[in-house]
Amino acid sequence: MQTAKPSKTARKVALNIVTLGTKRGMEKVLPSGIVDATAKLLVESGAVGRKAVRFSRSRIAVGIYLAFDWMMPGQFEAFAHRKAFCERQVRKGIEAGASQVLVLGAGYDTLGWRLAPAFAKVHFFEIDHPATARLKAKGIEAMGLPTNLHLLAEDLDERRLVDVLHANATWNPIAPTVIVAEGLLMYLPPDAVGVLFEQCAAATGAGSRMAFTYIGSRSNGRPDAGPWTWLILWLLKIGGEPWLWSISAEEILLFLNEHGWTIAKDQTELIDKCGIEFHGIAIK
Ligand SMILES: C[S@@+](CC[C@H](N)C(=O)[O-])C[C@H]1O[C@@H](n2cnc3c(N)ncnc32)[C@H](O)[C@@H]1O
Repeated sequence: MQTAKPSKTARKVALNIVTLGTKRGMEKVLPSGIVDATAKLLVESGAVGRKAVRFSRSRIAVGIYLAFDWMMPGQFEAFAHRKAFCERQVRKGIEAGASQVLVLGAGYDTLGWRLAPAFAKVHFFEIDHPATARLKAKGIEAMGLPTNLHLLAEDLDERRLVDVLHANATWNPIAPTVIVAEGLLMYLPPDAVGVLFEQCAAATGAGSRMAFTYIGSRSNGRPDAGPWTWLILWLLKIGGEPWLWSISAEEILLFLNEHGWTIAKDQTELIDKCGIEFHGIAIK
């Protein structure tokens, strides 16, 4: 993927969240405060201009996203469910005793910034490519950086996750932790995904959990994003952020077992499809 420039897909997800804030009914799904925080972050970071953010909050923007839903059926609203799913898992994990939260490929996600003040004893870490992470850090600093939020600028293709975490004096490798990998795994080379799960297991304590999203595979092993998959894959490729990894829902449990994780028996039903993505929870 292009690493020198801030991620376009991260900006797209964030703008999508801002627009969902205008769609009737979405206030029941979206985590509290996410829309305003995301809009502010986009402006303060300089990732998107004030005017464009204002436009994203208009009914016309809602109409445009709905018109494009033919390409990825249900995906516009699915971003709200994806954010809600990840936040639910983080809150559940903290309730169960997690003292660390790690958001991988965080983009312009605001979970850490919104939750850090409410959970002062929990350390929140975020990692993203330097080009995106630097912009985000500029925005977060302008909005007020909570002392328990740690923003790390790293390319996980270049440096191993365990090395990044172990080099951080605040990271506790034996603490129960919640890891979020939202909208990230499909952008990683296939070999790197298994390694990432293994490193997440190696860098965290017993009782840790991972909330992740992934694209399902067709029988030929290619990603399945609905009837217009070929067009989506082509657009992502020419945009410089191609999808490289997918897996079928039937294979995910075996994959997790092979890489240091499992799915709790009572949680298998949470391997759910929403829009074109699946939501999964791995337990250590
Ligand atoms: C589609 S965006 C999702 C952003 C965020 N998780 C969300 O859902 O709002 C994917 C993010 O993963 C980051 N990413 C992709 N490959 C990465 C890598 N090798 N190292 C660090 N970050 C990476 C991109 O920079 C981008 O911010």
